[in-house]
Amino acid sequence: MKPGDWAPLAAEVRIPQWQTVSALGTLCIVTSKKKIAVLAGDGIGQEVIPQAINVIEASGAQVELQEFDWGASRYLADGVTVPPDGFAMLGRELDAILVGAFGDPRVPTNLHAKEILLGMRFQMDLYANVRPVRLLDAVLCPLKGVEPKDVDFVVVRENTEGVYGDVGGVFKKGTEDEIAIQEDINTRKGVERVIRYAFDYCEKNPKLDGSKRSRVLMCDKSNAMTHAGGLWQRVFKEVAREYPQIKPEHMYVDAFCMQMVRDPRPFDVIVTNNMFGDIITDLAAGLQGGLGMAASGNIHPGKTSMFEPVHGSAPAIAGKNIANPMGAILTAAMMLGHLGLSAEAARIEGAVLDAVRQKKTTQDVGGPLGTREVGEWVAQRVAGKGC
Ligand code: NAD
Ligand code: IPM
Ligand code: MN
Repeated sequence: MKPGDWAPLAAEVRIPQWQTVSALGTLCIVTSKKKIAVLAGDGIGQEVIPQAINVIEASGAQVELQEFDWGASRYLADGVTVPPDGFAMLGRELDAILVGAFGDPRVPTNLHAKEILLGMRFQMDLYANVRPVRLLDAVLCPLKGVEPKDVDFVVVRENTEGVYGDVGGVFKKGTEDEIAIQEDINTRKGVERVIRYAFDYCEKNPKLDGSKRSRVLMCDKSNAMTHAGGLWQRVFKEVAREYPQIKPEHMYVDAFCMQMVRDPRPFDVIVTNNMFGDIITDLAAGLQGGLGMAASGNIHPGKTSMFEPVHGSAPAIAGKNIANPMGAILTAAMMLGHLGLSAEAARIEGAVLDAVRQKKTTQDVGGPLGTREVGEWVAQRVAGKGC
């Protein structure tokens, strides 16, 4: 909502939402700007996030941006990955977090990425990793005869448990009897809340063409991993009963992957565990034109949530002005939508669509432009300047 928009306050009293009524009953102007933490991170994160910011600014969204230097360079300089109180501060003081990517060949252990990125997901309890899979234009899809209307599904990935907890250990390291154990943690609470999130998402979020979503498919490997799979199966059936209007479906993850690359038309909302969700969303990014096009949100309803493109820091192409900024720009739109700035989000998505149709894109999706030039084109379009 922007200054000048009207929000219902009570039956007969309406005031613009950016104004509040003081105790004395007079109107005082309080800007309700959303505060956004920006962590561009490493590699191409440093290139695509500035473009996403330009586009946010061009949209006129009422936001205040605060940049943080967490990442490989900071870690190499002073050994700090996340400053003390860092996550609690983000949760307390910011409305959302926009992240680029973490991962740098100068830090072969990847420790900083683990502590910052996975730390944020786990410690801020951002349990639903929502990764929309949308084909903006048929030319972007490697499949024959597939149109944008055929690819509009979303993967809801569990984001706080599974093998990502990194619980385990190594015994007799370096000997021929070495044993490495990597535990797969699945809690009743964690499984239930992400499955419920997927059903709620299905109920509340129509497809791009306005039609209702109607199916939630759980994707697992319960034929082989029976303990965790059994819990997911039982909870899925229980939660599904609460949503009689939604059709519950199931596929094993291997068969799911095959189906996704042969014909993704049947998919609507997918819910799965952390690791399967990671793998299938890179594969799904392939349907959209590659990793440079895919957006995501790490969400805990009611808490400060984090938004990041699905791609990583792509060190091999970093610093060359060739990284595709669309994933980051669409992520920014997703974040604005989450913050209630739906008009700005829609304008950004519309401009990205125009850019794709007019080939104002980077080389990975067949265009002639660089990272900055794509960002500038989209920003101008969003600002309503002719291009
Ligand atoms: P990656 O996503 O960085 O790159 C995979 C491939 O996609 C590469 O060929 C790369 O050039 C290409 N690519 C990715 N984003 C692109 C873009 N915007 N435009 C054009 N091409 C793009 O994955 P990776 O190579 O497996 O990992 C590199 C580093 O990034 C590693 O350190 C990894 O741990 C890290 N990583 C971080 C995140 C994150 O922070 N969210 C996500 C994935 C990987
Ligand atoms: C992603 C990334 C991360 C993940 C890595 C960098 C730990 O691949 O966001 O998809 O596996 O979740
Ligand atoms: Mn991944």
